Amino acid sequence: MNYDIANPDLAEGGARRISWAGRRMQVLETVRERFREEKPLDGHVVAACLHVTAETANLMLALRDGGAEPILCASNPLSTQDDVAAALVAEGIPVFAIRGEDDSTYYKHIHAALDHAPAVTMDDGADLATVLHTDRRDIEVIGSTEETTTGVIRLRAMAADGTLRVPVVAVNDSATKHLFDNHYGTGQSTLDGIIRATNVLLAGQNLVVVGFGDCGRGVADRADGLGAKVIVVEVDPVRALSAAMSGYRVMTAADAAEAGDIFITVTGNKHVLRMEHFDKMKDGAILANSGHFDIELDLRSLRANATARRTVRDNLEEFDMPDGRRILLAAEGRLVNLGAAEGHPADVMDMSFSNQALAAEYLIANRETLEPRIYTLPSEIDDLVASIKLAHLGGGLEKLTADQIDYLGGWQEGT
Ligand SMILES: NC(=O)c1ccc[n+]([C@@H]2O[C@H](COP(=O)([O-])OP(=O)(O)OC[C@H]3O[C@@H](n4cnc5c(N)ncnc54)[C@H](O)[C@@H]3O)[C@@H](O)[C@H]2O)c1
Repeated sequence: MNYDIANPDLAEGGARRISWAGRRMQVLETVRERFREEKPLDGHVVAACLHVTAETANLMLALRDGGAEPILCASNPLSTQDDVAAALVAEGIPVFAIRGEDDSTYYKHIHAALDHAPAVTMDDGADLATVLHTDRRDIEVIGSTEETTTGVIRLRAMAADGTLRVPVVAVNDSATKHLFDNHYGTGQSTLDGIIRATNVLLAGQNLVVVGFGDCGRGVADRADGLGAKVIVVEVDPVRALSAAMSGYRVMTAADAAEAGDIFITVTGNKHVLRMEHFDKMKDGAILANSGHFDIELDLRSLRANATARRTVRDNLEEFDMPDGRRILLAAEGRLVNLGAAEGHPADVMDMSFSNQALAAEYLIANRETLEPRIYTLPSEIDDLVASIKLAHLGGGLEKLTADQIDYLGGWQEGT
């Protein structure tokens, strides 16, 4: 078997973590049980470009239970858990991912995954799909799935300019993905990453969240709960207003730069904090990004302007500015929750990855009719995923009465 990982000897520890995560992924386990019986992915190679974490490993095992041959490469150079990669290889699943790999190895690994001639590809950020539409147009796939907001934005841009050549399921657009993973998952794990990288007390800190979307709201709410004084920077007036009415101070990036102690970007955009902002920050300001790509911070300018830089802790680098101030950067500006912590908890990836597994099944089952455009999974899948998760959380679901169904479907009854 072909693979490229850091160290196969780490497999035992990785297997323990995969098993622990699996215990909190009850929806995926339900999907797996059916997959074992029905084998809906039988004989199809699925190449996944996802963060190589314990939760992703459970998805790979579920795909294999469904009859697929899964192949895994990383969707970020810094998010790979090397022990998990080793455990998957020990399970006979080819993995091409090494934590800290450089850009050329990262793309070499994407090509290695595509060399297995996949029928379905899975992406988190659309890097694999981009290669499929540029250097590897030789590969014909049934379709692709996409995990995150940034990837969906890239794929919609491909569809808009006529480049998209495969059907894509935007898993991110399922309610049971973005309303939970982006909000609760990114909210908790982003702060987990910052705390592990810095060990600062968030209570009393001015914590600036740039971008108040699904992820940003989650980060702001969790930081608020820990006692931070949250400041929001937004370009969308409705979202900015929503932040203000949630009790957060809303400022321009320029004003927030002066006020903030800790900065977290979660916009999916480029250079939302740049030199004009770094120039105004306090001595000791901490920068972290939890958006998909590290370009949310203009790191090239930060590095170019710094007079010296040093590593002060694991996943924390300090830059000396010409005027004597120091600026700290967590996890190289890459997704801080994956670079400095373990990514989202299994409880929430359970729903995201159940949607991924069901999206692969959907693409294969409907391959004769799907066109090269962006699809969302049917809402019944959201209802199914949510119902199973709710049952595992011990919640009871109320049912509409026949009379209520009639009332909601009619128009005659009024005042
Ligand atoms: N860290 C993780 O594990 C994780 C998980 C899910 C999503 N993501 C990524 O996080 C990013 C945000 O995702 P989302 O689902 O919240 O997206 P979203 O579209 O719901 O929200 C992004 C927000 O950023 C705002 N924004 C854009 N440019 C801005 C600027 N210059 N200044 C201030 N605000 C700006 C937008 O108006 C929007 O409200 C994406 O890159 C997504 O892929 C990361």
